[in-house]
Amino acid sequence: MTVKVLFVSSVLSTFYFFNQIHPIRGENCDLYGTLLYEDMGCKASYDNSVYYSQTLGRCPSKFDCLGLKKSSENCFLRGKAYKLNEMVDSRVTAGLCDLGCYCQQNDDTTNFKCATVDCPEWGVKEPYPGCYRKYSLDDCCSIREMCAPYENSTTCVYDGKVYKEGENFLPKNSCWRCVCQEGFRGKLEKPFCRRRSCGVQIKNQEKLQERCAPLYYKRKYRENDPLCCPTSWICSEGNEKLTGRPRTDKMCLFGQRLVRVGQKFEKTIESPRSMNVTCECKVPPLLTCVTYVI
Ligand SMILES: *[C@@H]1O[C@H](CO)[C@@H](O)[C@H](O)[C@H]1NC(C)=O
Ligand SMILES: *[C@@H]1O[C@H](CO)[C@@H](O)[C@H](O)[C@H]1NC(C)=O
Repeated sequence: MTVKVLFVSSVLSTFYFFNQIHPIRGENCDLYGTLLYEDMGCKASYDNSVYYSQTLGRCPSKFDCLGLKKSSENCFLRGKAYKLNEMVDSRVTAGLCDLGCYCQQNDDTTNFKCATVDCPEWGVKEPYPGCYRKYSLDDCCSIREMCAPYENSTTCVYDGKVYKEGENFLPKNSCWRCVCQEGFRGKLEKPFCRRRSCGVQIKNQEKLQERCAPLYYKRKYRENDPLCCPTSWICSEGNEKLTGRPRTDKMCLFGQRLVRVGQKFEKTIESPRSMNVTCECKVPPLLTCVTYVI
């Protein structure tokens, strides 16, 4: 282990020294869209080759995931296969605002059908003046409205902001979600914080089975914006023109096509609105598509 760490850090410092134009990034793996894979229960693999230490630092270089193949018999959720009509335990989907999910067939793929939760606070603009909504990490809806005076109430400080007990916050440059609770010391860790959950297998099972690529919105000039939950999906039309030199022997799958790490394509899509997207194989097995918004 010590040898490995020394090797990586000497490679990193060498590159940092000679390569000022592309400084080595930190170890914030959320910049590379790994949340999606974690949320799917995929298994991470690491690679200490120069290429990966230069581009991803010590983040996973690829994942192994269940559920990226067409199936008309099973749905997949967090590494588990569900048979048609099989129900998902509500504890698994509670934080996702989906309940009573079961697997159903959808042409040559499958998807989950769920009852959608409708929180009382949705559609209601602001809490009552002087009040705020209290959340728990395990529930989709707020659990109660807290009003002044906030007796015995604890507060949390994160990134220069103060939160009241039960307040929800999304720490910037990360894919964590936190709820202020007694004992929080500014660290992104359980039981105060949790990795966000995108629920892509619940909502987009068929896109995954067809090996479409997650599309993330990124703000211009904000290279530190993390890639957390995708906004939509780009599916293969079979005619995407690949550019870029393959960098390693690892590959992504896009529809029926193999795309090597380092290869990419650009295209203009019209839905949900007109935008230019760039899709690249960065961390297999899925391509990562990004579009810039203002
Ligand atoms: C505040 O703490 C006191 C003492 O621990 C307790 O008796 C009281 O019920 C608490 N008040 C509220 C609103 O929780
Ligand atoms: C997409 O890129 C093309 C060519 O660079 C440009 O002309 C067009 O305005 C862009 N479209 C959008 C929606 O940004």
